[in-house]
This record gives sequence, C-alpha cells and structure tokens, in this order.
Amino acid sequence: MRVSGCEASHTTPMTDLDRYAFLPGAASPIQVARTEGSFLITPDGTRILDASGGAIVSNVGHGRREVAEAVGRALAEVDYVVPPFHTPSRQRLIERLQDRWLPGDVRRCVFTSGGSESVDSAIRVARQHFVSKGEPSRYKVIGRGLSYHGVTLGSLAVGGHTKRRAGMEPLLTEHPRIPPCYPLRCAMCQGSCDLSCADVLREVIEREGAETVAAFIAEPIGGSTAGALTPPDGYWPRIAEICREYGILLIADEVMSGFGRTGKRFAVEHWDVTPDLLVGGKGLAGGYAPMGAVFAREEVVQPIAEARDEIMFFTYAAHPASCAAAEAVLDIMERENLVERAAEMGELLSRRLASLAEHPNVAEVRGRGLLQAVEIVADRESRAPFPAEAKVTGRIVAAGVADGVFFYPGGCGPARDVVVLGPPFTISPDEIDQIASVLEKAIDGVVARVSP
Ligand SMILES: Cc1ncc(COP(=O)(O)O)c(C=O)c1O
Repeated sequence: MRVSGCEASHTTPMTDLDRYAFLPGAASPIQVARTEGSFLITPDGTRILDASGGAIVSNVGHGRREVAEAVGRALAEVDYVVPPFHTPSRQRLIERLQDRWLPGDVRRCVFTSGGSESVDSAIRVARQHFVSKGEPSRYKVIGRGLSYHGVTLGSLAVGGHTKRRAGMEPLLTEHPRIPPCYPLRCAMCQGSCDLSCADVLREVIEREGAETVAAFIAEPIGGSTAGALTPPDGYWPRIAEICREYGILLIADEVMSGFGRTGKRFAVEHWDVTPDLLVGGKGLAGGYAPMGAVFAREEVVQPIAEARDEIMFFTYAAHPASCAAAEAVLDIMERENLVERAAEMGELLSRRLASLAEHPNVAEVRGRGLLQAVEIVADRESRAPFPAEAKVTGRIVAAGVADGVFFYPGGCGPARDVVVLGPPFTISPDEIDQIASVLEKAIDGVVARVSP
C-alpha cells in the first residue's frame, strides 16, 4: 500500500522493492532492519528517531526483550483456542486491566486485533444493547467531523475523515455528525470555545429523534485527522450529560489517546468522564502484537446477557500472543511509571515547541502529554493553508527522515497540513530536543521551497 509522506532517502531503487508493494509504482518504503529504544535502524545502520512511535503506537519503546520473551512463553503454552475460551495470558490481562487500568465502573473486556475492529465491535455492542433491551429503533451513531475511527466499513461510516472516506461513500451507512471542537477555525466561537459545538449534539439528537439514536462516538483528544484537537475543560462533561439525558451510549474512541499517551491512563480522565464504552488499541500492546479492545460498563452488557444474545468474535481475538504482549507492556508501564513520564515528557515537548508556536507558518501547536501536533499554514494571520499540490506535510516528513527523525503525517479538510508527534514514553530530554530542532528546520526548509 502507498503510505504518503514516507518516501525518503533510506530506500533502495524502485526496481528492487517494487514487487513488494501492493500498488505498483508506489514510492519505495523506508527499510527498517531493527528497532531499539526510540530508534528505527536501517540495513546500513542509520538510526532514525521515531518521533511518532510508528503510527502513535510504541509507548514502552522499541526492542524490549522481555515482551518478546513473554510472547514466546505464551505461545509455547497455548497457541490458538477459540476466543471465548480462557487462556492463562488472557485471564491475567483481564485481571490487570480491571484492577489497575480501567476507569470508573468500566469492567467488561472483549478483545480484537486492532482499532478498526474494536470500533466496529463497540458499534455492534451498542446496537445489540438496544435490540436486547427491546428498543430496536435505536441504531444511529452520531459522530463528529474531522474524526477517524478506522477503515472497516462500519468505523469509516461513523468517522469524519473525508480523505479516507472518498470514493467509499456508497458503501457507508449514513450517520449524523456534529462539528469537531476546533476553536482555531470555529465559526460558532471564533477561538474562545463557549461549548456551542457540544450543544449541537442536543440539536442533532432532537432533530433525528432520540428514539433512533444508539450512541455518540468521538476521540476525547483527536488523533492525526486534524492533529491532536483538544477540547476545553467543560466539553466532555457537557457531552456526557447530553448523552445521559437522552439515554444514548457514549463511546470514547481511545485507540490513539488511551493507555497513557496523553499523560493519564485514558484521556477521558482529564475531565473525570466515564464513558459507557471505551475503545482501545495501539498502546494496549505498544506495537508488540496486533491488539485492540472494547471495554464496557456492566449496565451496557447486562441487557445482552439477560436476553441471552451474543456478540460474535473475530477468529484471532484474544490471541495468547497478543494478550501476553499486552500484559508485558502494561507491566513495564506500571513498573517504570510511564504514564507519569508521558505527562512529564509531554510538558517538556510543549516547552521545546513553544518557539515553533510563534512561527509565521504555524497556526497552532496543540495536544496533551505525548500526543501533540503542529498545524502548518501558508499564512498565520488568515490561517490559509498551502495548496494541496504543494504536499507540504509529505515534504516535511521526508525532510525529517533525511535528517534522522520520523514524524507522523496528518491533516484533513481545513487542517490540511499537520505533523503529529507521539514518541515512546521512554523518550529522553535530548531526543526531545532533537525532535524539536529537526522539525523546525524541516518546516523552514519546506516553506522556503514551496512559498511563492
Ligand atoms: C482514534 C482511532 N480509532 C481507530 C483507529 C483505527 O485503528 P487501526 O488502524 O488499528 O485499525 C485509529 C488509527 O489510527 C485511531 O487513531
């Protein structure tokens, strides 16, 4: 598959690698022979600082032998059983999640192999909850603009990533959407959020009819779509209150923001909100195995259990290798206090990016903990973006790699050019300095080339 913005100097000629790409003619991918700490290491030994932990995944850092060994032990014990069966690694993981990680009364866990599968599953659980309860008219899932929930047809349908939905629309069930909380470009508040964007949820529910709405889904802190959009303090409590008022399930998609990334175990905890369904992925196994999960409050699953209805599993759900990887990763996070470290290093990163926040081509630097983003524009005053053909984000990512740092490309719609930062929580202060200085240099270099 083509991965935009990842073509760079650490490649071999197209002819060698062309047969590996699914789409012929795709840019040659970066070759990675080994990973270690905060670094990706190419076959010739070049070290690339992984400023985005891959796709904002790696949290305990790369190359942790103990995780690989835990996976090996689990597979030697049990390789595959159907997901509803119990295995030692699965049982240990559930106990650890319930005892030390899940917020409030969120206790029930079902596993998948990634974020999109988990969002799809959360939607199915929400729908099944109402079918089992005898309210089959509730099926709509209200989403938000500039959101991303995955690429399965269900998760794409509730998402608001126009680029990734493009061309797929006839296959996607239409669901209502509210605007994102994006004060920088908000027509309602023009910069100082008064929560009108949250109140639109009430208007949409009234317009659609609450009896047709099953759930509201959103990322508590946005991911790469518009780049770490972070609402003001009152936003999430207001959203939760509206959902409660209309009996609508609140789904927090924490595939990217969960498991410590924003400096709390889950981003909803910044605002003391407990969702009905919490979706996790990426950081749960820190990149060591394909893993996702849906966590639910007891009262969400109760009607399904009482009606003796079922939730169909994915064949590879709760795989012993994935459960063991997740358990080992969470163990490292607890032992090394990495959630606290993500908060601390996040503050340092914000301080180091402060000068960039004043750059004439930066509209905003935003985010929490180690999920931050820089929005790049042609003009800071008007916030006008560069033309799409200038491929500013792709060029910045390529310039970063050429200078030894990998940034994650983001951006969509009005937030056209966004660089996302999400390094491992083990990142050192020196490595943070390197991220900030290489990013500034990459932005300056690309802006000089594309500006008229
Ligand atoms: C918030 C959010 N939800 C869902 C997904 C989809 O996860 P996956 O790519 O593991 O299917 C992503 C991926 O970036 C995400 O950021």
